Amino acid sequence: MGSPIVIAIDGPAGAGKSTVARAVAARLGLGYLDTGAMYRAVTFAALREGVAVHDREEVAELARRVDIVLEDGTVTVDGVDATAAIRTREVTEAVSAVAANSEVRAALVERQRAWVAAHGGGVVEGRDIGSVVFPDARLKLFVTASPRVRAERRVGEIGGDVDEVEAAIIERDRRDSTRADSPLLEADGAVVVDTTGLAVEEVVELILARLG
Ligand code: DC
Repeated sequence: MGSPIVIAIDGPAGAGKSTVARAVAARLGLGYLDTGAMYRAVTFAALREGVAVHDREEVAELARRVDIVLEDGTVTVDGVDATAAIRTREVTEAVSAVAANSEVRAALVERQRAWVAAHGGGVVEGRDIGSVVFPDARLKLFVTASPRVRAERRVGEIGGDVDEVEAAIIERDRRDSTRADSPLLEADGAVVVDTTGLAVEEVVELILARLG
């Protein structure tokens, strides 16, 4: 055995990263780490404790202290099951501010590396995995799709108005890709996978073929 296999999957919200990452992890017998869930968990903890998400020091302190367990698709924050709560609109609206906090990022990147070390590799999904967290990953993917398609998929899952959801997606992309610390970008050496018009299985096969 060589070094543990790490597959980095980055890309904008709603491009199908999670579905693809889970399927690739299952096919390879690797663990799956959703790093967005970690930023959401810190945001959930801040809202729960009444810490203002724009209070950089307090939120950073919280990110270092809070206990976050990601296991089998569930997210536990300080012993509380937050699997559903981290996906609420309230958390989704507040999470960009938390993700823009450099001290929060430093704390979570450290935890992400520890998780992968403890699990002997993994499929790691986020925004800065190939660029910052695991620049030496075996395979780096930038999974994307048109904003319209991403909006349509989201509406198919949770309902809503396609135009409104598309506008929100474009705005979130703008915030994630223009922030100063670790903006969303294609990492050096990343393979761009445009999932527009592709079925999940097709994307998974395309990725596995890349691994050789
Ligand atoms: O993938 P998601 O929508 O659950 O991510 C939630 C937020 O966290 C989103 O604003 C992007 C941010 N994020 C990040 O900055 N870096 C990561 N590695 C993962 C997510």
